[in-house]
Amino acid sequence: MAKEKLIIFDTTLRDGEQSPGASMTQEEKLRVARQLERMRVDVIEAGFAAASPGDFNAIKTIAETVRDSTVCSLARANENDIRRAGEAIRPARSGRIHTFIATSPIHMEKKLRMTPDEVLEAAVKAIGIAREYTDDVEFSAEDAVRSDIDFLCRIFDAVIAAGARTINVPDTVGYSVPSIWGERMRTLIGRVKDADRVVWSTHCHNDLGMAVANSLAAVQAGARQVECTINGLGERAGNASLEEIVMAVKTRTDIFHLETGIDATQIVPASRLVAQITGYPVQPNKAIVGANAFAHESGIHQDGVLKHRETYEIMRAEDVGWTQNKLVLGKHSGRNAFKNRLQELGIPVNSEEAINAAFARFKELADKKHDIFDEDLQALMSDESLPPAHEHYKLVSFKFHSETGEIPHAELTLSVGGVERHAEADGGGPVDAALKAIESVVGSGSELLLYSVNAITTGTDAQGEVTVRLASGGRIVNGQGADTDIVVASAKAYLNALNRLYQGNERLNPQL
Ligand code: KIV
Ligand code: ZN
Repeated sequence: MAKEKLIIFDTTLRDGEQSPGASMTQEEKLRVARQLERMRVDVIEAGFAAASPGDFNAIKTIAETVRDSTVCSLARANENDIRRAGEAIRPARSGRIHTFIATSPIHMEKKLRMTPDEVLEAAVKAIGIAREYTDDVEFSAEDAVRSDIDFLCRIFDAVIAAGARTINVPDTVGYSVPSIWGERMRTLIGRVKDADRVVWSTHCHNDLGMAVANSLAAVQAGARQVECTINGLGERAGNASLEEIVMAVKTRTDIFHLETGIDATQIVPASRLVAQITGYPVQPNKAIVGANAFAHESGIHQDGVLKHRETYEIMRAEDVGWTQNKLVLGKHSGRNAFKNRLQELGIPVNSEEAINAAFARFKELADKKHDIFDEDLQALMSDESLPPAHEHYKLVSFKFHSETGEIPHAELTLSVGGVERHAEADGGGPVDAALKAIESVVGSGSELLLYSVNAITTGTDAQGEVTVRLASGGRIVNGQGADTDIVVASAKAYLNALNRLYQGNERLNPQL
């Protein structure tokens, strides 16, 4: 018998982006949206159109590009927000407006300073305006978790009558527990007049670590859409994690009897992309996408898995996109093999020129590192986000000295707009010395908000992937660099961030 569908609504680009420092540039948002489409997410919430012109343009570009997923913009329940959202999603093949207003006594009194009747009137009006742009209109009762159930039923009756097609019930503050949350969903579906004419949705935050459990309880009670994010990224403790929801529903069909349209093999690439762009690393023991999620350390477990895999494994690593550090290419691989592997990995390459540049970098890497894995290629291609022609600052040569009892020292030559400049500096360590030397040439005066290093693969010859986040004059940028030498990776990441500052390629909604 065909299973009912669970709609996966991804809000990494909207709620996820509200994590401190996780905001993205327009180009980064587009890359994530493409990956979400490749993963066959049903709805991509691409942003909040009225938040800034940058967010508006990002949503519009995503709406122009993405063809297989519905593209959605968030909007408060006011005319200006909804019209901005409507304009932003206009180019989409399938576009949705998601409008919301708070319904809890504390939010209505203290934040909105509106009576429940005024809130209800604003919600109904908002749906009417949104329907001028699209039939696909979603309504959310913000802070539904602390809202009066009678008022929720009243407002949901009214917005459904006004034309809302999806009703989302958010636990905005991550306060609920599974039994209560499931019960709330069941009660609403039981009491709201035309409940069967809409899709019921749940949106849970993770403040008490129960976002996924609460979402799944709502699904068992009848919700057929879950709002979630890659890696559980999101405000405060984050949102429900997409990969956990999808794999729970897939692994326990005996309980949920549902299916999603997700191509689970794209989960790990999506996780890596979001972690790399936002600079939010994934904890090693994170379910599904953590580096240890499928590693068996204890002898008893290893023995069991070798004898019969299912003794300790409920999912297969390759089904969620782990490539088992597969050796793909080496020093002698040709350009065609390289290009084919990129295609197999679903990495978009925009032009022959871009392939040539990437292939040259691949050859450089292959000289330093014997085995090149898929993860190395993914890191290599992320450098493509900033074409070399746009690199105002380039590393020409670099050397550093670090020895017990000596002060670390870095010496480098940078090309600044085509003119070579030499610099040297001492530092607390070689990375500190390198960044100081670069800064002595560039003089950006920016503040370093984040510096993180992550090994891309296993082994001591692994590439280190460095992320730096810089703030300067109210703007925030992230920079990434990868190299087998982490001091060089650090210099590359710092220069990548400086190039973004120089280009005006900053994050759209910077939040410290
Ligand atoms: O958490 C929340 O309530 C939200 C709404 C805007 C859906 O993000
Ligand atoms: Zn939220």
